[in-house]
Amino acid sequence: MKIKYSLITRRNFLNGLLGGWAAALMASFISPALKFVFPPYREPDEVILPWSEYKDMSPNSTKIFPWGSKPGIFKQNDDGTHTAFVGVCTHLDCNVTYIPDQRKFFCACHDGWYDENGIQIAGPPPTPMRKLEITIEGEDLIIRKPGVKVE
Ligand code: FES
Repeated sequence: MKIKYSLITRRNFLNGLLGGWAAALMASFISPALKFVFPPYREPDEVILPWSEYKDMSPNSTKIFPWGSKPGIFKQNDDGTHTAFVGVCTHLDCNVTYIPDQRKFFCACHDGWYDENGIQIAGPPPTPMRKLEITIEGEDLIIRKPGVKVE
């Protein structure tokens, strides 16, 4: 039996099918690109590290620790105190390294500089490096986001 009248012409049906296929193809390209540019990042509230690996550091030295998917920087100060930072630049999130000879943190992406306290001193970084809170409990070195309540 042949249909005399249809609400959808063959041309419209094929155009709709082609359009849907093109939209699905574009979504499959755009989705991974968006995840690369804006990675889903969940920052931890705290990390617990073995204090034995950090307690014998020499003054003016740093050690990297994992802070979620970003690096954290644990710094041994000259006076025996410690400081912890989120180890990425406040400009565009590039990793930052500590240069002990110059007592400065350096971001190679756009020549950004911070002093040994994480305060921006040159280049494009708009704000100081993010400091984290440090607690030592027995054998644990606990590094927390500022303001996180201890249970
Ligand atoms: S990302 Fe560090 S200076 Fe631009």
